[in-house]
Amino acid sequence: MHDALESIMNLKAWLVFVLLISILDNLKLAKGDGTEHARRRLVDQTPDFISIDCGATSDCLDEGTGIFYKSDSGFIDTGTNNVISPEYYSTMVSPNYVRKIKNLRSFPQGTKNCYTLTPEQGKNSNYLIRAFFFYGNYDNKNQPPKFEINVGVNFWTTVGFSELYLLYPPRETFPDIIHVPLSDTIYVCLINTGSGIPFISALELRPLSKSIYPTNFGALSFGSRLDIGTSSSMYLIRYEDDVYDRLWLSQSTLSNWVPINTSSVINTQDSNDSYQLPAQVLRTAVQPPSGHNALTYVHSYGTNNPYNGGKYYVCFHFAEIAKPTQGKKREFIIDVEGGNYTSEPITLEYLKPLSICPQNGQPFEGHFSFSINATTESGLPPIVNAIEYYSVISLPYKPTDPKDVAAIMYIKQTYTISRDDWQGDPCVPHQYSWSNLTCSSDDTPRIISLYLSSSKLTGKIATSISDLTALQYLL
Ligand SMILES: *[C@@H]1O[C@H](CO)[C@@H](O)[C@H](O)[C@H]1NC(C)=O
Ligand SMILES: *[C@@H]1O[C@H](CO)[C@@H](O)[C@H](O)[C@H]1NC(C)=O
Ligand SMILES: *[C@@H]1O[C@H](CO)[C@@H](O)[C@H](O)[C@H]1NC(C)=O
Ligand SMILES: *[C@@H]1O[C@H](CO)[C@@H](O)[C@H](O)[C@H]1NC(C)=O
Ligand SMILES: *[C@@H]1O[C@H](CO)[C@@H](O)[C@H](O)[C@H]1NC(C)=O
Repeated sequence: MHDALESIMNLKAWLVFVLLISILDNLKLAKGDGTEHARRRLVDQTPDFISIDCGATSDCLDEGTGIFYKSDSGFIDTGTNNVISPEYYSTMVSPNYVRKIKNLRSFPQGTKNCYTLTPEQGKNSNYLIRAFFFYGNYDNKNQPPKFEINVGVNFWTTVGFSELYLLYPPRETFPDIIHVPLSDTIYVCLINTGSGIPFISALELRPLSKSIYPTNFGALSFGSRLDIGTSSSMYLIRYEDDVYDRLWLSQSTLSNWVPINTSSVINTQDSNDSYQLPAQVLRTAVQPPSGHNALTYVHSYGTNNPYNGGKYYVCFHFAEIAKPTQGKKREFIIDVEGGNYTSEPITLEYLKPLSICPQNGQPFEGHFSFSINATTESGLPPIVNAIEYYSVISLPYKPTDPKDVAAIMYIKQTYTISRDDWQGDPCVPHQYSWSNLTCSSDDTPRIISLYLSSSKLTGKIATSISDLTALQYLL
């Protein structure tokens, strides 16, 4: 029963997801003036973004978003290009959307296949990384696989497809993650766990300001970003309305809350709110039904819901959208997880954004619930304009010593060593470390032996080998 409910929820999420992209695309196309589009066509407006249309044979501009998608070349050497079965084209309402998920790259060889992403900002910056998986019976087997993906050297999530996969891929087929990597190179690896051939449809990386979504405790996974108080639940907001290309799902209401909106301009530019929500998201909000002065919410979990139990992280976004009335102020407090966090009294300024991500980034633990209550001083009920919640996951493993990685990568290139498994980090995770080398079990692993004789190397031994300073054996 729960599974069915979950599937329906997923179905709704996916429907929304697909429809909204198409609607948004069409809107954009309709309203976009010619010159704007002409310019877009020539210039990649998103040089900081890494956007890969996996399995595509050429780079292309997505006209709906203005995002420039590259083919896989330069990001991965292995795998084969495939195209979803034509009967699924019609599922994808939008031509622009089809372009991105029509192609996919599959990995029949090897257990670990990795995309290599090297954003300019390097390590210690915050990134949003998002992948898309649409099976679309590309292999004519009608048997979607189940596999794992890693981010860097750590487990990210399992990708699976429910019985409704044929038409409506569930939420776990477009996972995202926000985190600060420990190395300049970020690997996204698909791991074959013996339940079918892994594949991927699209992969996106977006740099975030480091002042937002602080994640010193791990990573924020499966972001749900709700633009609440909208008139319909059928659209999505992303780049370029959202400078960070977060995906905001429209949600008319939760519970019995009452939608309100404004058409006034929200001062997103000169505000100190570093979360930079799209004005369109902030222009709609909800308030309690008349006679009530609290917005209370308890999240309902499905059985295989990624938010199920464990740790979570939540952000509330506000902007006063009602014209100020003389002598009436709006003041409220936020309470999360039954008193584990209670805010100071909050007041809003007219049309000015305010974001509150409680407890300085420390995650909550338990069953996601909150209340936003008017204080006794308040003459107006509370409102909320947008809500984000994330499942918090830990990224326990550290990558191999960067000097060793640089040296072995140099050796790999110099001797054009091609082994299917020489991808991603050489030592971590341990069970997928490269063949023909062994590693120490330090917190930051070192390469301690290397067996190159089987590679039939000729020429002088690369001086890089001497950069492997922990090396004890070289055969
Ligand atoms: C704003 O509210 C009005 C009245 O409730 C409604 O008709 C309209 O569709 C809303 N607009 C948006 C963008 O939600
Ligand atoms: C931003 O913050 C600074 C310092 O806290 C303050 O002086 C300034 O007025 C704020 N600007 C806006 C638009 O709120
Ligand atoms: C509050 O947090 C503590 C640990 O931080 C946890 O043990 C406890 O269960 C939480 N209380 C509620 C009501 O969730
Ligand atoms: C907020 O209001 C709800 C509903 O009136 C109430 O059950 C809850 O205890 C209140 N929370 C706080 C922190 O006052
Ligand atoms: C090197 O790795 C290959 C697999 O890629 C394996 O067959 C071979 O036995 C390895 N050689 C040594 C010396 O470990």
